[in-house]
Amino acid sequence: MLVQPGVHYYPGWLSREGQEALVTELETALEIAPWFQPTMPRWGTPFSVRMTNLGPLGWVSDKSGYRYQALHPDTGNPWPQLPESIRDLWRDVADYPHPPEACLVNYYGGKAKMGLHQDRDEADFDAPVVSLSLGDDALFRIGTLERDGPTTSLKLKSGDVLVFGGPARLAFHGIDRIYPGYSTLLREGGRINMTLRRVTYPAA
Ligand code: SIN
Ligand code: FE2
Repeated sequence: MLVQPGVHYYPGWLSREGQEALVTELETALEIAPWFQPTMPRWGTPFSVRMTNLGPLGWVSDKSGYRYQALHPDTGNPWPQLPESIRDLWRDVADYPHPPEACLVNYYGGKAKMGLHQDRDEADFDAPVVSLSLGDDALFRIGTLERDGPTTSLKLKSGDVLVFGGPARLAFHGIDRIYPGYSTLLREGGRINMTLRRVTYPAA
């Protein structure tokens, strides 16, 4: 379903069985790459979400800024590999000929949210951002290339996929709230969002 130019919504893309298998893979990945606490650049205010990453590069945020790096900020180890189902997801929906390099995994407890922002720390904006929701429902909002432009709200559910690229690649977006306790997928409750991105220009 086309939400607005460049924004495609695939409700229920991943089956319950597929979601459970992915959560099991995530649990293994978390043993190598545990949740870390991102903080805002400069002030060091903690985000309300916790994060980890999969793939060759991971997105991190701390006092010195936002960036991609190959190593976990706390353990110093490389990020775990991208699960096959995640690479399949990219191949099926990204409409982009090169593999993703980063899968940011955000964990939202019941009170977590994410303010409106653009994903713009990548070199290659030809690739879309592909996002998969797991666990509790979330109220997602996406707008235009301007922070105060009009926005559309979607309630993202477990297994839903959202792709934003092309004219919407730099659209402002965020999570207004979580609806805690709706899903039985995650043992600890809450919501996980996995965001796939191409970071670098592919070699010519
Ligand atoms: C993000 O924009 O990084 C997260 C979006 C989401 O949680 O659905
Ligand atoms: Fe984002």
